[in-house]
Amino acid sequence: MASRNHPTIIELLKADHREVDKLFEEFEQAEGNAKKQMLLASRIGQALTIHAEIEENLFYPAVLPLLDEEGADLTWEAAVEHGTLRGLIAGMNGGDPAQPAIKAHVTVLKEYVQHHVREEEKELFPRVQQLDLDLEAMGAEMLQLKEGLAAAAAEPDTNSRTILIADVSVRDVAAWH
Ligand SMILES: [Fe+2]
Ligand SMILES: [Fe+2]
Repeated sequence: MASRNHPTIIELLKADHREVDKLFEEFEQAEGNAKKQMLLASRIGQALTIHAEIEENLFYPAVLPLLDEEGADLTWEAAVEHGTLRGLIAGMNGGDPAQPAIKAHVTVLKEYVQHHVREEEKELFPRVQQLDLDLEAMGAEMLQLKEGLAAAAAEPDTNSRTILIADVSVRDVAAWH
């Protein structure tokens, strides 16, 4: 019997997207409070990094071989866009950012994330919902992976974070299949 007790991976990914929307909004509302904006910028970077890891390691590889050509193209484009997202996040976190530089990075990142999320939600996710996949089981897997990534990110030893949040390039995506 089909049960609806567990969230699907699509629902969880969308919830992540809304969470990041909220953080961007909080950043804008913290205008004039540099310390709070710095903190929010780092939370945005961490949330997006974990989300990208989940999509690259769990979601994209599962859907890629099952999608038609158009769907596969969308998945590849999303993976490539993650590379750009990482660059913007690194620029936001790197060095000794003066407040205007952080603000500029967050603004560009927000616009880019909005574009990326729109494509995932409007184009990719509806195609994935047509596939023969256990999206609830994938949701459970996602929660487990997310827990591990969040714990590693909170770990003061940055080395363990580097291992888990390894950069996943398009070449890695190609190696999945
Ligand atoms: Fe994504
Ligand atoms: Fe996403």
